[in-house]
Amino acid sequence: MLLFTGKGGVGKSTVAAGTAALAAAGGQRTLVLSTDAAHSLADAFGCAPGFIGAEPTEVADRLFVQQVDAQLRFEQSWADIQRYLLSILDVAGLDPVAAEELTVIPGAEEVLALLELRLQALSGAWDVIVVDCAPTAETLRLLALPEALGWYMHRVLPVERRVIKALRPVLSRAAGVPMPGDTVFDALERLHAELEEVRALLSGPDASVRIVLTPENVVLAEARRAYTTLSLFGYRVDGVVANRIFPAEGADDWRAGWVMAQDEVLERVAESFAGLPIRRSAYRPREPVGVEALTALAREVYDEDDPLAAAKGRGPFRISSGEHGAVLRLSLPLVSRAEVDLARNGDDLVVTVGSYRRLITLPSGLARYRIAGARVEQGELQVRFVEDPVDETGR
Ligand SMILES: Nc1ncnc2c1ncn2[C@@H]1O[C@H](COP(=O)(O)OP(=O)(O)OP(=O)(O)O)[C@@H](O)[C@H]1O
Ligand SMILES: [Mg+2]
Repeated sequence: MLLFTGKGGVGKSTVAAGTAALAAAGGQRTLVLSTDAAHSLADAFGCAPGFIGAEPTEVADRLFVQQVDAQLRFEQSWADIQRYLLSILDVAGLDPVAAEELTVIPGAEEVLALLELRLQALSGAWDVIVVDCAPTAETLRLLALPEALGWYMHRVLPVERRVIKALRPVLSRAAGVPMPGDTVFDALERLHAELEEVRALLSGPDASVRIVLTPENVVLAEARRAYTTLSLFGYRVDGVVANRIFPAEGADDWRAGWVMAQDEVLERVAESFAGLPIRRSAYRPREPVGVEALTALAREVYDEDDPLAAAKGRGPFRISSGEHGAVLRLSLPLVSRAEVDLARNGDDLVVTVGSYRRLITLPSGLARYRIAGARVEQGELQVRFVEDPVDETGR
C-alpha cells in the first residue's frame, strides 16, 4: 500500500494516479482510491462524470480506480450509532433535519474511506493499492484516531457498558433520555476494532507514505511537519516527490527567477529528507490528464527505479531488549530535544511533539519496567527501561 500526502494542490492526486498507472503498466493488479471527499481522481484520469463510482472501475489494463462513497458507507456502518444519537437529539427537542446534520461527524468521510481501504486490502484482489489522501493535516489527525480512541475503548467503555446496563431501567424512566443499548456499544466496538486494523495495516511492513511537495518554502515547512508527525504515529515515510519544477533551459527573466528560488528550496528539501529518495517531476506545459500523460509523468519521476520498491529500513518504531532492560526507539526526524515531551501514564507512554500527542501502549513485557532515562539523538527518541527492583521483591 502506497499513500500519497502533502499540502493542498501540490499534485498528490496526479502523482498517486501516475504511480498507479506505472505499476499497472508493469504488470501489477493495481487499485487507486481516494480518501479525499473532493474526489479528483476521475478528473486526473480524464474520465467522464459518473464513469468512476463507489466500486473499483477499470480504466486501463489492470488499473482500477475507486472513489469511495462515504455517504453510502456512513449509512451502513454507522446506522446503529446514528440512530441512538438521533434519539437523544429528538428528546432534546431538535428539529430532525438539523439532528441528521449534526450526527454527520466531521472527518467521518475519510475515516470511512480508510475502512474501505481495509476491505480492499483484505480482499487479496490487488498487488498494489495506491491511496490518494486528503491534504496533510486531516490525514494525520484521522490516522491517529484509532489509537486515540483506544484508551477510551479499552478502559472506559467496558465499565460504562456495565454501569449503563445496571442503571438503564431507572435512568430511562427518570430522565426520559434513552440509554444506549447493546447494539450501540456493539457498533462502536466493531468500528473501533476495524479502525485499529486499518492502523495496523498502515503502520505495518506492507505500507508506506510518500510526501508530495512543490519547491516552495511554505510547502516545505508543512512537508517537514508531516514527516515528523507521520513518524511519531508510526507510519513509514519512504520517499519525497518534488513536483512542478520549472525547467531551466531557455528561461526568460521571470522563469529564471523561479528556477533560482526553487533550486534554493530543493537544497533544503535534500537536507530535510536526507536518507530518503527525493524524486523530481517537471512543471509540464499542460495538465497531465489521462492514463498516458500520467504514466509519462511517473516514468520521469521514478526514472529507472521500481515505483514499488519497498521502503528500506525498519519502521519508525521498535523495541530492543537486553538482559537488564530494553530500549524503545521512535524516530522523530527534524525534531530537537526541546520539542519533545515525554510522560508515563500507567501502561502508556505519552509522547508529545508540538501540538501532536501519541499514546503508545507499552507491551506487557515493558509495562512492568521502570523508565531509567530518555534522550533525543539524531532524530530518534530513545527511552531506556530497566527492571524495577521494587517489583522483584513483590512489594
Ligand atoms: N507536474 C505538473 N505539471 C503541470 N501541471 C501539474 C503537474 N502536477 C500537477 N499538475 C496539475 O495541477 C493541478 C493540481 O494537481 P492535483 O489535483 O494532483 O493536486 P492535489 O495535491 O491532489 O490537490 P488537492 O489538494 O486539491 O487534492 C491539476 O490541475 C494537475 O493537473
Ligand atoms: Mg487531490
